[in-house]
Amino acid sequence: SDKLSVKQARQAEAIGQQATLQGWVRTRRDSKGGFSFLEINDGSCLSNIQIIVDADLPNYESDVKRLSAGCSISVRGEVKESGGRGQATEMLAKELIVHGWADPESYPLQKKRHSMEKLREWAHLRPRTNTFGAVMRVRNRIGRSIHDFFQERDFLYTHTPIITASDCEGAGEMFRVTTIDPAMPPKDDKGEIDYTQDFFDRPSYLTVSGQLEGEIYATALGKIYTFGPTFRAENSNTSRHLAEFWMVEPEMAFCELTDNMDLAEAFLKRVVADVRQDCEEDLQFFQDRIDDTVHESLANVADKPFERVTYTTAIELLENADAKFEFPVKWGVDLQAEHERYLTEQHFKSPVILYDYPATIKPFYMRVNDEDEQGRRTVRAMDVLVPRVGEIIGGSQREERLEVLEARMAEQSLDPEEYWWYIDLRRYGTVPHSGFGLGLERMVQFVTGMSNIRDVIPFPRTPGNADF
Ligand code: 4AD
Ligand code: MG
Repeated sequence: SDKLSVKQARQAEAIGQQATLQGWVRTRRDSKGGFSFLEINDGSCLSNIQIIVDADLPNYESDVKRLSAGCSISVRGEVKESGGRGQATEMLAKELIVHGWADPESYPLQKKRHSMEKLREWAHLRPRTNTFGAVMRVRNRIGRSIHDFFQERDFLYTHTPIITASDCEGAGEMFRVTTIDPAMPPKDDKGEIDYTQDFFDRPSYLTVSGQLEGEIYATALGKIYTFGPTFRAENSNTSRHLAEFWMVEPEMAFCELTDNMDLAEAFLKRVVADVRQDCEEDLQFFQDRIDDTVHESLANVADKPFERVTYTTAIELLENADAKFEFPVKWGVDLQAEHERYLTEQHFKSPVILYDYPATIKPFYMRVNDEDEQGRRTVRAMDVLVPRVGEIIGGSQREERLEVLEARMAEQSLDPEEYWWYIDLRRYGTVPHSGFGLGLERMVQFVTGMSNIRDVIPFPRTPGNADF
């Protein structure tokens, strides 16, 4: 076939080719001289291509003169060198077919710019906008880069379950899985729908993290990674939390916290490098239209070693900062977004890895450190913070010592019988091991400068929002 994408047709090599282009009309302009200019886009790249349609075309009056934003068309013609600014090529149409009309009276995506909030209501049409097209191309490139990075290092892509009975993070923010036949829902004594029926013997949930299952595979196969959807029923309306988000979780046997940090840093640097190389046009768009710090913050990740400081040092820095915080800091508290932003944007002006957090604010599985001089107990946790977004990666070295793990579980009132298989890994051939989780959407936010996490995933799931 002679089909070209708009991206292909915009290359100088396409000049002189007879080709078919297919896409959606963005604009139509008629000239007095008896021809029309169409801008069409097919999502293959940010730019449109200009189509010149001569009034000689048999369906010029009946079709071409009625085209408006949103109509879908196929055009056959010759790709020509263009005299216009900002475009190498254009097409001279010899034949044009309309596949679908879009009534200009009702088509929502008119030329004017719509707010991100408004576009969220049109989740079915927003991928046709420049912003969402660019977000999705970058998101796709990041996904490919993630696989490339781990595959090149011989990590095994491991599929962990979505439905699980174990609570990895222990934060109590899980979605319960029940079985309801919509036609015949089970009823309780009061005649209300009984949502507590368990298909799986005991309560099961949508996973918050594939880590615990990932540890099983890492302690057999060495290096693994998971990459899939994860779920958190946090009832918070923030610009960086979703109820359903994608997480990448590498897990390595014979790996301590410093190696884990090295991997996390190399990983972020690699993903950023790939996007900078392959998504130049989209990144320029984000820089110009969304956030003018995009280029600079990507260069920062690519070129400079990340800062690495302990949680304790970070608290001291924050206590001595001349900034006013809404949430006061003292040793033992969890850092808030404002603190993360202060550290990355004002103090270090670069990504920071914080490590060795208080044991009291971290999950049971993290490896316990010896107490410090003041008798404070920390665990080998690490968070990677980046400007604008804050925490982008959370990880740790895992507790591999059987007795210490059991003691930690008792402390957090976890039932060892429910985690017998996890404890077994410490009983039979235990090894030091580590891993981390990167939130894909936070990564897309960082790379694109998009301020709200709802706008970097095709269908955001947030409290009260699951229609389509
Ligand atoms: O810090 P978190 O909760 O760590 C874990 O789940 C570990 N089990 C990971 C591991 O060690 N294998 O989550 C990891 C990352 C966060 O740093 C953040 O980027 C993202 O997942 N994240 C969210 N992204 C969007 N919406 C939410 N509600 C998120 N919660 C966490
Ligand atoms: Mg975390």
